Amino acid sequence: MSLFDESTASLRFSTHQPGPGQRWSTWPSTTPTQRGPRPHPDWLVVSAAAFDTELGIVKTGKEADLHLLERAVPDDPTATCLLAAKRYRGPGTTDFHRSAAYQEGRRMRNTRDTRAVARGSAHGRAVSAERWAIAEFEGLCTLSQLGLPVPYPVQISGTEILMEFIGDGTRAAARLAQHRPGRAEAEDWFEQVVRILHGLARAGFAHGDLSAYNLLVHRGQVVVIDLPQLVDIAANPNGAAMLQRDCHIICDWFARHGVAADEDLLFTDLISEVF
Ligand SMILES: Nc1ncnc2c1ncn2[C@@H]1O[C@H](COP(=O)(O)OP(=O)(O)O)[C@@H](O)[C@H]1O
Ligand SMILES: [Mg+2]
Repeated sequence: MSLFDESTASLRFSTHQPGPGQRWSTWPSTTPTQRGPRPHPDWLVVSAAAFDTELGIVKTGKEADLHLLERAVPDDPTATCLLAAKRYRGPGTTDFHRSAAYQEGRRMRNTRDTRAVARGSAHGRAVSAERWAIAEFEGLCTLSQLGLPVPYPVQISGTEILMEFIGDGTRAAARLAQHRPGRAEAEDWFEQVVRILHGLARAGFAHGDLSAYNLLVHRGQVVVIDLPQLVDIAANPNGAAMLQRDCHIICDWFARHGVAADEDLLFTDLISEVF
């Protein structure tokens, strides 16, 4: 262990040591810029005496896997929380599908890294994974600060993002796509989605990969996830087209569930928030 001060050192050399599937909490080794917006929520365990325990994979994805972690202080039943760990995969995986179009308008300063990413070398893929993680963490922080419903972004360390786990106990909330809402419920959820999209558009953003798979519904509340490609509508030359696609995909899903969801109207309303 390196990055902790003397006051925490005594805690870390207590009788408890991490066992298999455990590590020391990575919170103390993050800098303030690698942590989510203040105030940090009350439920978050920030003690340097905490362990992170792997509870298993929630979902494997193309570019990242979602793991469930418990962050808890041994022998302190009050100091425990569940976290979702989204881990971007680096070298050894296939190409990222969200690449060129999203990256336009984003600049990479280090030309060696830029060339490596373009070549798709192992170093390039490692750089990409880290960039996507940073982009997603920033996206989560942006929405969180706008007061929009996202999992609270706890911290970023390299290619791993830790965020609030949305679910009941260790059971993850279902994605919108897994629900079979009645019409009234669908209308309520659509209203929530529209409010979220307006909140985003007022700040100049489109989700960029909005779908019934990237929205969770937890206790009647719609929560947005999967934000590495948050789109700056005005700065990105494809911004308006991406917003239009978001509107199309989500209105199509709600229309199939009995909601009078008009994608053109939604798009016009949202774009008028930006320009
Ligand atoms: N904070 C979270 N709490 C609970 N489940 C989550 C959370 N974030 C993601 N998930 C689950 O993991 C899945 C994959 O996460 P997502 O961010 O959409 O990654 P991908 O890029 O692989 O689509 C989601 O569809 C959802 O089921
Ligand atoms: Mg997703």
